[in-house]
Amino acid sequence: MKSLVIVVLTTALLLLMIPCLSLAQEEVIKLPAPQKTGGKPLMDSLNLRQSTRGNFGPEQKLSLQTLSNLLWAANGVNRPDGHQTAPSAAGWENIDIYVTTADGLFIYDPKQQALKVISKEDVRATSGLEGQAGGGMKQDFAKTAPVSLIYVADMAKTKGMKYGGEDVGPLWSYANVGTIAQNVYLFCASEGLACILRAMIDPVQIAKVFKLRPDQKPLLTSTIAQFKK
Ligand SMILES: Cc1cc2nc3c(=O)[nH]c(=O)nc-3n(C[C@H](O)[C@H](O)[C@H](O)COP(=O)(O)O)c2cc1C
Repeated sequence: MKSLVIVVLTTALLLLMIPCLSLAQEEVIKLPAPQKTGGKPLMDSLNLRQSTRGNFGPEQKLSLQTLSNLLWAANGVNRPDGHQTAPSAAGWENIDIYVTTADGLFIYDPKQQALKVISKEDVRATSGLEGQAGGGMKQDFAKTAPVSLIYVADMAKTKGMKYGGEDVGPLWSYANVGTIAQNVYLFCASEGLACILRAMIDPVQIAKVFKLRPDQKPLLTSTIAQFKK
């Protein structure tokens, strides 16, 4: 009986330690509080919104403050109940924003306004197309642009939801990303940054480098840079 109690207690202790061990391994970069006021008026930003494809200014990192503001604009928490700047079909909130910079690969955590570090390698080229990958359209400017935001849908969160008999997971996930991407375009217009939204990415390569689960789907990418003066 005594040894059974010891086994049960030891197992319980080990189970309790598992989350602590994984927490200890996870590196997180806390972003500065986003500046939620200011910027250009909405109508001016809409008037300036445009796609800029490569031919960017000299490579220059965004400050951590600008990155924080950018990510908050993209899909940060803007209400006490945890809801975000972009709407989300059926409240799935199933779009993760992966961030690539010269300093590494990160996932944006909107609740903590932080970046979870996945790797400290420069994998910016992963979301750019080289050679034939884009059906002849070369979009390799991502490898030197300061930031790319890769929008990854977690299809597990759509739970195979049907509407009108159709599986709406993929369609509504694309719509969710579209609203985030427009937030990014408008932030860039307001801040005088260049931006391009791209569907021509290599999802297989991204899934491999980002070590995605099979139900995580990279859908679109925004690449952000300075304008060429
Ligand atoms: C869903 C979507 C996917 C896009 N994919 C690409 C792309 O892969 N490569 C690219 O150069 N532009 C891409 N664009 C940008 C469009 O080409 C661009 O918005 C269009 O030419 C109109 O130009 P504007 O954004 O300056 O108004 C995409 C836009 C959207 C909405």
